[in-house]
Amino acid sequence: MTLARVTRRSFFDATLRAIIGAAFVGRDGLAALAQQASSSGPLIVHSARPQDLETPVNLLTSWITPNDLFYVRSHFYAPTIDEAQWMLQVDGDVATPLTLRLDELMRMRPRTLPVTLECAGNGRGNYQPPVAGVQWRKGAVGTARWTGVPLADVLERAGRRPSGKFVWFDGADIGLGRAPDFIRSLPLDKAIHRDTLLAYEMNGERLPIAHGFPLRVIVPGWEGAYNVKWVNHITVSDREHPGPFVSTSYRVPRWPVTSGASVDAADTVPIRGLVVKSIITSPLHGANLIPGGATMITGFAWGGEYDIRAVEVSIDGGRTWAAARLGQERAPYAWRQFTLPWRPDHPGSRVLLSRATDARGRRQPLAADWNPGGYLWNAVDMVRVNVGEPEPAAPQRATVAPPPDTDAAAGLLKSRCTVCHSTDLIDAQRLDDGGWRRELAKMQGWGAQLSPDERDLLVNHLVQRSK
Ligand code: HEC
Repeated sequence: MTLARVTRRSFFDATLRAIIGAAFVGRDGLAALAQQASSSGPLIVHSARPQDLETPVNLLTSWITPNDLFYVRSHFYAPTIDEAQWMLQVDGDVATPLTLRLDELMRMRPRTLPVTLECAGNGRGNYQPPVAGVQWRKGAVGTARWTGVPLADVLERAGRRPSGKFVWFDGADIGLGRAPDFIRSLPLDKAIHRDTLLAYEMNGERLPIAHGFPLRVIVPGWEGAYNVKWVNHITVSDREHPGPFVSTSYRVPRWPVTSGASVDAADTVPIRGLVVKSIITSPLHGANLIPGGATMITGFAWGGEYDIRAVEVSIDGGRTWAAARLGQERAPYAWRQFTLPWRPDHPGSRVLLSRATDARGRRQPLAADWNPGGYLWNAVDMVRVNVGEPEPAAPQRATVAPPPDTDAAAGLLKSRCTVCHSTDLIDAQRLDDGGWRRELAKMQGWGAQLSPDERDLLVNHLVQRSK
């Protein structure tokens, strides 16, 4: 949105031209791909382009997550911003539409809050049957101190009209191909809450580009996608934004549904607050521990808008539970660290579990309800460790070589898919025939070029690869 104010790298233009015309990854595209991939540092790359990066949980060791270790979720490419030209536009149901420069925003009274952000899809990789989307494991979560101005103050300046019931946020990023812009809407009561911020600093530094430079929304305690990055356009409206990132994505069924069911959008509701959850960050799954050695079981627990009341840990697969100690560092909307010292005695395999309860009395379930978007995974966390001699290596299964990429399928992936995103996003999916057909139909809707024959060939190939 407000494209004139955003200078996009020529690569993006080249990419768009490639989509509109035939389709190929130009040399620029490959260079940009390599560059984005190399800027991931120690993070797990789910998608190099657009960037979806997860924090390996062993690096989540402090209450505040350092900027360079913070997970990254992007629907589209990060825009290139010229700060001197940058403006925030505020319009819609307001008395005085505004355009604010960054220095004007930064002169308003600031507020700093530590807030835990979690992607709604964190844990999606656990769902059975598998669900399309980034296959996050445990680390699409982190906590930072965000500094900015209360959105309420900006809306007050513009003079919100009583008809305004929702606030829409659009960032400087633009949709890929025919995919529309990423726009989210927030109900008014949360939008005018003093803790909802337009943030320009993360942990005392200007926002990194991957985290929304120069400005992002922070909606404390709510699901990650409300925290729109690169925000440069705010509209007050009497209704929810009609786009797919509100009407289709980030929604869950009203009632529990059969695993694998397809659910009508009318039977879903938007996700708002985060659910109660805990993760064990140490020891790691598969770790070898010394019998009699001192071990500290550690992790984090959060409950969105609700404080954590207790975390229980089991060292015997859930037969018995002990109260973990909660860390001193705490704040509304921020996670708590928990610890439980343990000296494993007998050699053998152990299953460690963690289970949090929040101030509202919500407790993590033993098994998560399946939902078609693969959102809000919050089952009790489980880590299996081995005490003593490492377990004998499991007998080698005869390795079946993955089917070779047929030249035709490989050619299609390269020419028709990588114009928009890297293939890592495709490789990680675990979909069946029906799932891949739905996925390719969605991609065609967004601009992927495939004839019916090419689609069949690709589906066969992708199903084989997902096995
Ligand atoms: C016109 C651009 C475009 C083309 C061409 C394209 N995709 Fe996508 N694809 C997207 C966008 C946009 C996303 C969603 C990114 C996000 O939300 O994180 C996506 C996401 C995906 C995902 C992740 C699951 C999901 O739905 O978010 C898969 C799998 C995928 N694409 C497969 C393919 C395949 C296979 C092809 C080639 C036939 C292809 N795409 C071509 C734009 C495109």
